[in-house]
Parts: sequence; C-alpha cells; structure tokens
Amino acid sequence: KVGGALRGRHVLVTSGPTHEPIDPVRYIANRSSGKQGHAIAAAAAAAGARVTLVSGPVNLPDPAGIAVHHVETARDMLAAVEAALPADAAVFAAAVADWRVAAEAGQKLKKDGNALAPLALTENPDILAGIARRAEGRPRLVVGFAAETQNVVAHAQAKLARKGCDWIVANDVSRDGGHQSGIPGGVMGADSNAVHLVSAAGVEHWPTASKAEIAQRLVARIAVALGPQESQ
Ligand code: C5P
Repeated sequence: KVGGALRGRHVLVTSGPTHEPIDPVRYIANRSSGKQGHAIAAAAAAAGARVTLVSGPVNLPDPAGIAVHHVETARDMLAAVEAALPADAAVFAAAVADWRVAAEAGQKLKKDGNALAPLALTENPDILAGIARRAEGRPRLVVGFAAETQNVVAHAQAKLARKGCDWIVANDVSRDGGHQSGIPGGVMGADSNAVHLVSAAGVEHWPTASKAEIAQRLVARIAVALGPQESQ
C-alpha cells in the first residue's frame, strides 16, 4: 500500500551519531547506531521518494538507491543538511552531540608532566530547530526525535514546542526502554523500538516493533501528511 506513496517527493533524513574531535585521535561521541534513521531512509526510498541521507559515523552499509552524505561533526551535518534542501519532509533521527570541544587540539594531547586540563566545551548548532524555524525553504513536514530516560511524553511535548517541529518521535532509552534489549544504552543499537508519535494533534503510542516496521509506519504517515502528489 505504501509503494509509490512518496513518488516525486524529496525526503531528507539525518542518522547516526556525530563525532566531535578533542585532538587528532580522540573524540566525543554517543551510542547511536544509526539503525532507525537508516531504516527510515530506506523505507522512504521504498515508498518512491528521492531520499538524501546525511549520516554520521556508523557501521552500516549505505542503503541502496539513496544519496548518502557522510559527515563527522554536527557542523558538517548542518552544512550537508542545508546543501540538501529544499525537501518536502525532513526527519532528524541523528543523535547530534550537544557539545563540542571549544578548541580542538592540533596535536595529540599528552599526559606527561601536565596537570589534568579541563576540556572546555561549547554548544553545537541545533540542526532540527534551525531548519524547523526557517522562514524560507522550510520543509513542509519537520520531524524530530527524542531519546529520553524518563517522563518521555512530557519531555517530547516540550521539545516539540521548543524546536518548532511538527512531530516528535519519542522513545525511552533507559536501560530496558520498555522492552528488553539487555544492553547498556537500551534501545540504542537494538533492532526494535517502542515509540510515541507526539504532535499538536495528540500522542500516539506505537507498540514495540522492529526499527524497519517503525520506519514503514512513519513513512506511511509522512505520505498522508504530505497528501497526494499534484498531477504528474
Ligand atoms: O535536544 P535533543 O538533542 O534531545 O533533540 C533531539 C532532536 O533534535 C533529534 O531529532 C536530533 O536529531 C535533533 N538535534 C539536532 N541538532 C542538535 C541536537 C539535536 O538536529 N544539535
């Protein structure tokens, strides 16, 4: 039923973590695997969309038939997202690092003899909020993600308002995340996910399903939200 529902549409997806360099050999990162974002990109392509996937460093193959832009840092990701616009819908599934090291060291930091220096951090650009709040060239549908460990829906509703996006796909990434992944980081890296779709229209609780199934369900909803393509 989904087949072709996004034909003629351009869907932009971010996926994976970002890596924020400390020095030439060290970086700050997080546990995002990119599985959910990559699954969304693949599902959108299967629905006929032209898809641009902007991916941080992941151990996943590039989904077939998709233009993939590989980036490392949040700033690289923002540049690649801006270069990919315009898009009909944008799904920001990446776990972008909130902070980067203020002054990346040009040489490997050495421990010898030196007092332990604190790492000064600075805030990364918020890619989702920046795109969602654009006056011009805003994708018609902007979808963010929220990984929370408590009060998942309340935090997602606050995030919806704060970011200015249309939907938040919220999941519980506490250790068991409402299902048993049994690994540190819960849903991050797991193959299944249980999410809540939060929008101005209300909250839907989607039962635990594979990340591929959640991607298909989200893509079907995106197709409905964008409506039928004008005559072609
Ligand atoms: O604020 P928080 O990181 O919890 O928000 C998560 C959502 O915001 C995700 O959709 C993520 O891709 C997006 N985000 C972003 N740029 C950032 C931080 C988060 O696009 N710097």
